[in-house]
Amino acid sequence: MAGCDVGEATLQPIDAPPVQLIEARATTSLDQNYQPVRTALDPAGTTEVLSTASFVLKFDRFLLPSSVSATVGAESVCVSGDLATVQTYADCVNPIALAPTYNPVQREVIFRQIEGMPGLVPGTRYALTVFKPADEAAPSGIRAFDGAPLDGNTRIEFSVAATNPPQAMPERPPSGDFFCQRDLECVMRTDACQGDAPADPTCIACVRGAAYHLFYGCFGCHNGASAAAGLDLNLGTAFNQLDPLLETAIGRTAHQTQMGEKAHVGEASPARFGRAMPLIDPGNPGNSYLLYKILIGQIAVDPSLPADAAEKLRQENERLQAAFVVGMPMPPPPSNPIFWFHPQDPQTPDDQYTTPYVDGMDILSAWILNGAAPRDCSAPAASP
Ligand code: HEC
Repeated sequence: MAGCDVGEATLQPIDAPPVQLIEARATTSLDQNYQPVRTALDPAGTTEVLSTASFVLKFDRFLLPSSVSATVGAESVCVSGDLATVQTYADCVNPIALAPTYNPVQREVIFRQIEGMPGLVPGTRYALTVFKPADEAAPSGIRAFDGAPLDGNTRIEFSVAATNPPQAMPERPPSGDFFCQRDLECVMRTDACQGDAPADPTCIACVRGAAYHLFYGCFGCHNGASAAAGLDLNLGTAFNQLDPLLETAIGRTAHQTQMGEKAHVGEASPARFGRAMPLIDPGNPGNSYLLYKILIGQIAVDPSLPADAAEKLRQENERLQAAFVVGMPMPPPPSNPIFWFHPQDPQTPDDQYTTPYVDGMDILSAWILNGAAPRDCSAPAASP
């Protein structure tokens, strides 16, 4: 079996290239729904952000989730009004308190300001520094999944606008009914739900949340007694059959990662990333093997990527496969229907098989980040 050496060395393999920061974005305005619009921070320091801003860091490699986790990830960056150059988080003067969330599908980390802590002050200048790990053993500092460090600290200055649009609100991680979420345009259409009145909020035909994509994208192979690799994603057409998902996926160790002496238990940070990984790790999309099985496949590659970026991503996917992702990419062809993480046709970005995005994150990852709790989609959502 490929990858039975997983769990041995903690050293970075020689062929692992360092991580590069592709882009740092921050909230500079709001869209017509008052959602944050984030633009790239100009390295020349000219960008003006809102005082409610969050920061999105996009990397070229898949990250070690623990290096950007809630516990140590905040120490992988410094946002400070003290403009002296800093080498490590220990030098960061009065850091703005930030909470990171990692989205492996985009290879992005969003750092949001923390409610109740001192935030960005309007009309003030700041420096954002993204840190490489201080040494081999440092838990914080950006690392790739195989341990390769960020190629170097990156520092960008920016200023905070004197005033915000009146609708600017503190930015919070996305929350909502990501399992059963419905396409609102579909719900408004009278013909969408056979025999149902328009705008029926329980209309099953309009569900486009994680339930829809797991069921229809993986159906035919992962259902019932003969489910491939024992992974049963048969939610039933009303998405109300939750036992298979709970019993075979959520919090369950992926069969393909079971190796080494701790193989029987799922681990959040094993000695070597990828060993004994849960299929779905509630709260932690970056530690969910099911996502990586999809990520190595064509449906996760953004067709709008320029050729050189697509080639770099293909090489990175090969590194995932050499390290711990075993077998075929999911869903393997031929599979119909199928779902895509990115629209295949720029003309129809809302194609029903394209996963919807919430605040820059695909709905499957957002559901996992929110705790991966499934619910009966044929029942009305509990009122908030
Ligand atoms: C055409 C059939 C087919 C479809 C469709 C399919 N799979 Fe699979 N899946 C398999 C087979 C066969 C295996 C075992 C061999 C392999 O991994 O290559 C597998 C294995 C897996 C595993 C590894 C499980 C473990 O415990 O290690 C995961 C995770 C997975 N599939 C997820 C998915 C997801 C998510 C989808 C939908 C997006 C999907 N698959 C769609 C056939 C399929």
